[in-house]
Amino acid sequence: GATGDLSGRHVVVTAGGTREPLDPVRYLGNRSSGKQGYAVAAEAARRGARVSLVAANVALDTPPGCDLVPVETALELERAVTDLVDGGGVDAVVMAAAVADFRPARYAEAKIKKTHGDGDDSAPTIELVRNPDILAGLVAARGGATSPYLVGFAAETGDGTGDVLSLARAKLARKGCDLLVANEVGVGRTFGQDSTTAHLLRPGTEEIRTVGPGSKTLVAQAIWDHVAPSLR
Ligand code: C5P
Repeated sequence: GATGDLSGRHVVVTAGGTREPLDPVRYLGNRSSGKQGYAVAAEAARRGARVSLVAANVALDTPPGCDLVPVETALELERAVTDLVDGGGVDAVVMAAAVADFRPARYAEAKIKKTHGDGDDSAPTIELVRNPDILAGLVAARGGATSPYLVGFAAETGDGTGDVLSLARAKLARKGCDLLVANEVGVGRTFGQDSTTAHLLRPGTEEIRTVGPGSKTLVAQAIWDHVAPSLR
C-alpha cells in the first residue's frame, strides 16, 4: 500500500559522510557508507516523490528517480541543502548524512611534510573549527506555511553514562526537528552494514517506534510511513 503517497512532493535527502580536507591528499572523514540515506531516497522515489539526493562521498549507484547533488564537505552540503530549501516547494528534509562537527582551521595548499626544515620532525598540531549544524539551521529558519518537515538522525555509540534512547531524546529536544531516527553505531555496527535497528522518536511524546533488526529499506519505509501523512 503506501505506493504513491509522496506523489507531488519534493523531498531532500542527505546521505554519506562529509570529508574535511587538510591538504591536497588528506581529509578528516567518517565511516558513513550512505546506505541508509540512499534507502530513504529510493523509498521516497518509489512512493512518487521528486527526490534531491545530496550525497557526500558515496560509492553507491544512484537510486532510480533521484536527482544526485554530489558534495564533499559540510559547508558544501549546507550550501546544497539551503539552496534547495530556499528555492521553495520542499516538503521534507531528511538529514541522514554524517556531517563533520569540525573541520581543519586551515587548508594547506601543499602536502603537509613529515619533516619541516632543519630536521624538525615534531608532529604537527591540527587546529579545528566548528562546522555549522545544518539541521539546527533549518530548524531556526523554520516559519510560515512552506517550512519543510525536518528529520534528523542520531548515530549513538552510548557513552556509558546514558543509553542510546536517552541520548536520542536529549538530541531531539536540542535539535528541535520533527522526527529523530536513532541508531546504535560502532565499528562493524550499522555503518556500512545492510541490517540495522532504528528507533523513531517524536517531540512531545514518550512513544517510540522500534524498527528492526532489519534492512535499511525497512527503516526507510517506516520513516515515510510516519512522515507522509504528517506533511501539510
Ligand atoms: O549532533 P549530531 O551530529 O549527532 O546530530 C546528527 C544529526 O544532525 C544528523 O541528522 C546530521 O545529519 C545532522 N547534523 C547537521 N550538521 C552538523 C552535524 C550533524 O545537520 N554539523
